[in-house]
Amino acid sequence: MGKIQAPDRAGYRLIFKGLNRVLFCLLLVAASTLLAASEKPGKAAIASAHFMATEAGHEILARGGNAFDAAIAVSAALAVVEPTSSGIGGGGFWLVHRAEDGFETMIDAREQAPAAAHKDMYLDEEGNVVRDLAVNGPLAGGIPGEIAGLQHLADHYGRLPLAASLQPAIRIAREGFPVDDKFHALMNYRIDVIKRWPAAAEAYLADGELPPVGHIIRLPDLAWVLENVAEHGAKGFYTGPVAERVIEGVRAAGGIWTMEDLASYTVKERDPIRTMYGDYELVTAPPPSSGGVAIAEILNILEPYPINELDPVLRTHLIVEAMRRAYRDRAIYLGDPDFVDIPVEMLTSQFYADGLRASIRPDRATPSSMLAGNDQVPEGTDTTHFSIIDAEGNMVAATLTVNTPFGSCFMPPGTGFVVNNEMDDFSAKEGEPNAYGLIGFVANEIQPFKRPLSSMTPTFMIGEDKRAVIGTPGGSRIITMVLLGILDFMRGNEPESWVALPRFHHQYVPDKVSAESGAFTPGQVEALQAMGHEVEVRERTWGNMHGAMWNLETGEVTAGSDPRWSSGRAIVK
Ligand code: GLY
Repeated sequence: MGKIQAPDRAGYRLIFKGLNRVLFCLLLVAASTLLAASEKPGKAAIASAHFMATEAGHEILARGGNAFDAAIAVSAALAVVEPTSSGIGGGGFWLVHRAEDGFETMIDAREQAPAAAHKDMYLDEEGNVVRDLAVNGPLAGGIPGEIAGLQHLADHYGRLPLAASLQPAIRIAREGFPVDDKFHALMNYRIDVIKRWPAAAEAYLADGELPPVGHIIRLPDLAWVLENVAEHGAKGFYTGPVAERVIEGVRAAGGIWTMEDLASYTVKERDPIRTMYGDYELVTAPPPSSGGVAIAEILNILEPYPINELDPVLRTHLIVEAMRRAYRDRAIYLGDPDFVDIPVEMLTSQFYADGLRASIRPDRATPSSMLAGNDQVPEGTDTTHFSIIDAEGNMVAATLTVNTPFGSCFMPPGTGFVVNNEMDDFSAKEGEPNAYGLIGFVANEIQPFKRPLSSMTPTFMIGEDKRAVIGTPGGSRIITMVLLGILDFMRGNEPESWVALPRFHHQYVPDKVSAESGAFTPGQVEALQAMGHEVEVRERTWGNMHGAMWNLETGEVTAGSDPRWSSGRAIVK
């Protein structure tokens, strides 16, 4: 039998750190309880991708709603005015923090595969993936979760009836909204597919062509669907005349959804991933999002480094190496936790991160091919995020999606909404690139009722002096954008800074650092290349981040909206 040995220095360090964390958590809980009893922000912040959605949220707060009612109003309004990115034909995650008792949970209203889905559903007779089927049209859609999520929020967390919080969205759908730069650009990208589906073309185009910026779009069919939900709750969507219209349209166009698929859809509450970084507890998205696990792993790897004080080249190198390792694990281990065993405890442990850190050379990039496993999972590029802190200190971080711009572009006639193409977030065939050149893995293969792996990472940062809400759309880049935002928050910067920061990203495969212009100076690019990094700086920007913060020391509430698109709006009042 082996001798039991006393821990070495590293072992003592781990034990000490573990005890510190426990103590810190206890202090935080005690502080939160005291604060909950004695202090409130007094003002509310809402930051979202569209000014009409931000205003809808404030309207509901003014009518006596709390952050959760406002989240319903913002989600429903975005479903009307930003169909590029989310909608009632899609799904999402709402991370909630209840001020009165500090309770936190994530509402998982992710789309799920219909009963008739199967592993090879996008393969032709030769076994090749038919990308058009996986991305465009009703076969690409998972069963939508958004309406069930809104009902769940109203039933369990809100103060107002669901019908009240849906009113601004119903009004906007009837009265109309102007086409903005984002709608225009992404419609230009998807217009050929939109034109395949007469209902979508009629709803969104101007005389059958790309609508100009400023053109007013009205969606009376969507108003009718939302009115049904206001009257009957989620049943008004998942059963009855709306469901009949949806299923008839989907099946007539080659889809496989059934009335039973809609009627049996349920929301799940998931315990968030929690990790300490510096003086803050990060509360973030658990599987079926990959975001929280990856962020925890990256921050654990970076923890011993004074990351915000390092020379910018070394800082970037270390962050990139941590990203590379976390995205490798994301590809290998992550999927729907109801279908695959995910070693979350291992992946988010400091012990595991210490091992990964030991494999990082300070002077050289590690080629991804030198790390075991070389698979990558698919995800889409368009999604939306909003952040809310209400006057009582309740918080919501919500990231919602239809996957790629305008989802599958398919609109069931008479409904006014597009069906998502979230099925492409599954891996259609092991090792086969998806629309974005990414390849998939067995943990994320298609199965009936399974939820596809997501990158959406709604996150809270909770400390004694500050509470903050952050998130963004952006497919596989969501995780690294949220990470850079967190590091900027740790620098003491405000939401306006996190959302505007030039971004860089590495996702293991392809083995390159991509960056927005402005992220690095030419000299920094050369220095990173000399360390063995392939660096690609592009004019194209990514993400659409919206964040909010409550500074408990100054009492100030602030918010920031990504300047990359014109319609985003952060309002504090
Ligand atoms: N469809 C984007 C995501 O869930 O990551």
